[in-house]
Amino acid sequence: MDFKFTEEQLLIQEAARDFAKTELLPGVIERDEKQEFPKEQVKRMGELGFLGMMTSEQYGGSGMDTVSYALVMEEISKVDASCSVIVSVNNSLVCWGLEKFGNEEQKQKYLTPLAKGEIIGAFCLSEPEAGSDATSQKTTAIEHGDHYIINGTKNWITNGSTADVYLVIAQTHPELKHKGINAFILEKGMAGFEIGPKEQKLGIRGSDTHSLIFNDVKVPKENRIGDDGFGFKFAMKTLAGGRIGIAAQALGIASGAYELAREYSKVRKSFGTEICNHQAIAFKLADMHTQIEAARHLVLKAAWDKDQGNNYDLSGAMAKLYASQVAMDTAIEAVQIHGGNGYVKEYHVERLMRDAKITQIYEGTSEIQKIVISRALLNK
Ligand code: CAA
Ligand code: FAD
Repeated sequence: MDFKFTEEQLLIQEAARDFAKTELLPGVIERDEKQEFPKEQVKRMGELGFLGMMTSEQYGGSGMDTVSYALVMEEISKVDASCSVIVSVNNSLVCWGLEKFGNEEQKQKYLTPLAKGEIIGAFCLSEPEAGSDATSQKTTAIEHGDHYIINGTKNWITNGSTADVYLVIAQTHPELKHKGINAFILEKGMAGFEIGPKEQKLGIRGSDTHSLIFNDVKVPKENRIGDDGFGFKFAMKTLAGGRIGIAAQALGIASGAYELAREYSKVRKSFGTEICNHQAIAFKLADMHTQIEAARHLVLKAAWDKDQGNNYDLSGAMAKLYASQVAMDTAIEAVQIHGGNGYVKEYHVERLMRDAKITQIYEGTSEIQKIVISRALLNK
């Protein structure tokens, strides 16, 4: 067993840490307050190769492994989880899905600019009546000559208004249930493709979340990903890897909150001593650190499984389930350690607490992760 990172992994971790400190931290409070999309920061992340980390170099990516990706996700999430969800969707849902299952033409046309960060992508599975119950897709894709005609609504789509390329899941053969579902590549600006209003959110407020409405959108047949009926498998296989990214995001939020709380506890005084000298506070730090380390092991194990070619459905779901709980618990305790200052924006921990909650909801809620985990354990 080897718990050491490679030189390349350490270098990319350091690059992400520097970037987060120098380019994300200034302005993070303001972007959160104004729900402002981090346009400049996303451009820079593209230049640094963070938007196509696991994509092969031949398609404009950085050709790195999943462990490196998890390290970058953690560092960015320590400071700005709105930015890291953009990294996560573009890398593990859009670029990975296209490289793994797209054809050569689709890769040349869409994957290369996405991996270079010249454009960004969105992954559109959830609907008003099909969130956790993802096979209940109501959006339809009906074959019509050399096209499909798409009708329906998607909900809560990350990069909803800022993406250029949208991977859209829709039902073609309802009688076949999930085996009739397809995945398509849509472009912004296609006739009949409307972007709904921006959601007003509790956390990750810099990330733009929208509903999408499709009214007779004509999509060429060559934009279908994989064989007819492959769409649900496409979504599930892609999400299995996506969950490792969100687990790393949760780990980052937890680590960021913990580090702020630890430093604060060494300077804030009460009853004539720094608050870290009160055992109640020191024990909170001990619990936080222990849980974060446990989450880190699960996250890196899942990433390593993916890199080794092992099945990562189970390890990825366990990593997301546990790390998201640790993110929530740690962020709440970090606010507590900051006392009144924890409740005001300039100390950052209240934002981390708001951002933590989404990691228990998107890419499969905690209850859904338990379904995935228990089915794997029981071979169901
Ligand atoms: N890999 C390959 N195939 C898989 C799979 C996987 N990991 N998981 C399921 N499947 C296949 C099954 O094998 C089955 O196919 P066959 O019949 O051919 O065997 C098919 O998918 C249906 O599976 P189930 O019968 O298990 O389906 P279910 O209705 O019981 O649902 C579920 C399973 C795991 C609950 C699934 O619906 C699910 O994951 N729900 C959560 C949806 C989700 O995560 N949404 C996230 C949206 S994206 C997002 O959120 C992005 C963001 O925020 C940034
Ligand atoms: P529901 O499915 O209605 O669930 C409600 C509650 O019931 C939850 O607690 C759930 O765990 C529980 N529940 C449901 N079924 C079961 C069951 N069988 N057993 C036990 N408990 C159950 N989706 C995309 O496709 N693309 C995106 O880019 C995207 N980005 C998002 C960004 C944000 C900020 C948000 C809030 C959501 C995003 N989503 C996205 C949607 C997200 O994936 C869904 O919200 C999530 O999968 C849950 O679906 P739901 O909201 O419909 O909840």
